[in-house]
Amino acid sequence: MIELKNLTKVFQAGEKEVKALDSINLSVPEGSIYGVIGSSGAGKSTLIRCVNLLERPSSGGVVVDGQDLTRLSEKGLRQARRNIGMIFQHFNLLSSRTVYQNIALPLELAGATQQEIETAVAPLLELTGLKDKRDSYPSQLSGGQKQRVAIARALASKPKVLLCDEATSALDPQTTRSILALLKDINRELKITVLIITHEMDVVKTICDRVAILSHGQLIEENDVESFFLNPQTDLAREFVRSAIHEKPVAEVESRFQSEPVKGSRPVVRITFVGQRVVEPLITQAAKQFGTDFVILQADIETVHSKSMGFLMVEIMGNEKDVEASMNFLKENVQVEVVGYVS
Ligand SMILES: Nc1ncnc2c1ncn2[C@@H]1O[C@H](COP(=O)(O)OP(=O)(O)OP(=O)(O)O)[C@@H](O)[C@H]1O
Ligand SMILES: [Mg+2]
Repeated sequence: MIELKNLTKVFQAGEKEVKALDSINLSVPEGSIYGVIGSSGAGKSTLIRCVNLLERPSSGGVVVDGQDLTRLSEKGLRQARRNIGMIFQHFNLLSSRTVYQNIALPLELAGATQQEIETAVAPLLELTGLKDKRDSYPSQLSGGQKQRVAIARALASKPKVLLCDEATSALDPQTTRSILALLKDINRELKITVLIITHEMDVVKTICDRVAILSHGQLIEENDVESFFLNPQTDLAREFVRSAIHEKPVAEVESRFQSEPVKGSRPVVRITFVGQRVVEPLITQAAKQFGTDFVILQADIETVHSKSMGFLMVEIMGNEKDVEASMNFLKENVQVEVVGYVS
């Protein structure tokens, strides 16, 4: 539905050139929720602004619903943009207009009649849970309600694509969850493809189907969300995954932690598993079968892309042969990675 082809954006900042995007190739499948994650300054906002040509790329193509937007005339572009809704971190509502009037704005601009506007806005107020706020002004709304108005406004022109730039970054965790649930409903029920820019892994974990990582203007990793969590390839991806599973060094073993084994040291192992494996007693089986002991240093079960995923950090104790056999047994069943040794 969205294809970025060799997308490059260079900003001129005084004498200096800033390459905000460097030959990005990315494909967002129709009907999916696609996340782009990256640290501050990675180029995320620039990327999403290129998708509706709020920012004109220096080179490369932006294909949305089969049309390369960079090749359209002004008029063609205006039309194509009706297919692309966008919401922002700070909502960008007009403070002098009511909720109803904010949502109606794109329709007014497109020349719709009052009757057409009423017919379009009423179900959007319903969908976003704002029926009783119809005549309120933005200053009378909470952050979550403001974002709902922005979502309704973005949907008013019946877009095929919704772009979200840090749409939940200004909201508390509970409100974030309700907005994410709304985006998921919109994706499923209205069949709208959603592109989400975020620096929060929780957003990716909760609603995205696929994810890409941007770093210094380059796309360094791309995958479906489950594989991404199970098997991140780059250091940055691993860091993002660990932030989502709240993995921290364990104070009690940190001072004894080494990267290489020494005589008598015990391996510390990260175990990752998904779906049915979450409820299987693999650790106790390994312990019984090979006579090893497990010290659980960290444990977390998260819901990733609607599946349960387990993240364990354990120290395995026993003689070298039994520890090895335990690890091999685990490797047959789940993902196992030695992260260091303690003595
Ligand atoms: N209009 C501009 N002129 C010059 N440089 C710009 C402009 N817009 C963005 N940049 C630069 O491009 C790079 C990417 O910026 P961008 O806003 O896309 O990052 P981001 O990933 O959205 O960051 P954040 O998470 O902080 O929002 C940064 O180095 C930024 O300074
Ligand atoms: Mg940004």
